[in-house]
Amino acid sequence: MSGDTARPQTFAGRTVIVTGAAGGVGRILVREFRLRDARVVAVDRDTAALDRLDADPGVMRLAADVSEAGEVARVVDEAGEVDIMVNNAAVIDRLGMAHEVTVEEWHRLLDINLTAPFLFCNGVLPGMLRRGRGVIVNVASVAGVRGGRAGAAYTASKHGLVGLTKNIAATLGDRGIRSNAVCPGSIQTGMQDVTGAFPSALEALSRDRRKPAPALPEEVASVVLFLASDAAARVNGVALPVDSGSLAF
Ligand SMILES: NC(=O)c1ccc[n+]([C@@H]2O[C@H](COP(=O)([O-])OP(=O)(O)OC[C@H]3O[C@@H](n4cnc5c(N)ncnc54)[C@H](O)[C@@H]3O)[C@@H](O)[C@H]2O)c1
Repeated sequence: MSGDTARPQTFAGRTVIVTGAAGGVGRILVREFRLRDARVVAVDRDTAALDRLDADPGVMRLAADVSEAGEVARVVDEAGEVDIMVNNAAVIDRLGMAHEVTVEEWHRLLDINLTAPFLFCNGVLPGMLRRGRGVIVNVASVAGVRGGRAGAAYTASKHGLVGLTKNIAATLGDRGIRSNAVCPGSIQTGMQDVTGAFPSALEALSRDRRKPAPALPEEVASVVLFLASDAAARVNGVALPVDSGSLAF
């Protein structure tokens, strides 16, 4: 076994794009990648929250709506050579069932949670393929592998993201691309606020009587960093639950 796997993670000389960089998980990802010497391109549509990230010359902050193809193209262009793409931005809706969710809510969820990661992959993969290496980490959810807790649109968007993740691994793995997803259960961030949710969704959420306590954003970020690192060199095409075992219930 190579001694390399025992070294602490370092991302020196690598550029990582993190979307949703000003959110609960995103800002921890920015901090942890910087602590390991990556150059970080921090992308979020929330300009005020982006401004609150620590001033750091190693972090390029770019305000953009990741569901807009033109804005994604601008970010990819400004980022330069990208070694690691972390698609973390997402939104949650009122968690409606298929007959409750509106067409507008459906499109909004799919645009942000699924089309945006596709747009970033579409933008960064050509450069990664030219260099013969690149890593994609998509932040999905347990709603990307199970049916019955989140709303129809969120569940479909995260299942789609897991599918995109596996397709990239299957089709481009032999050309140096690794593509994996993390599937968190609940995380202690602003996304936990479901006060506007349908009663049916609140009932479904309360069904988990032995539901584990929400994870800290740090506990999800550490798994993203593992998948982004050379320690995961042979991990490709997985949708890794980070859910304290809730899927096992
Ligand atoms: N919080 C949870 O319980 C939970 C559970 C499972 C999965 N996840 C996933 O974890 C990831 C991170 O979520 P979080 O909990 O940090 O949420 P969060 O709401 O704290 O952060 C999300 C960030 O994405 C940004 N964003 C949303 N839409 C955008 C757009 N169109 N363009 C650019 N930026 C946009 C927001 O401004 C925000 O800063 C998401 O993919 C989410 O689906 C969260």
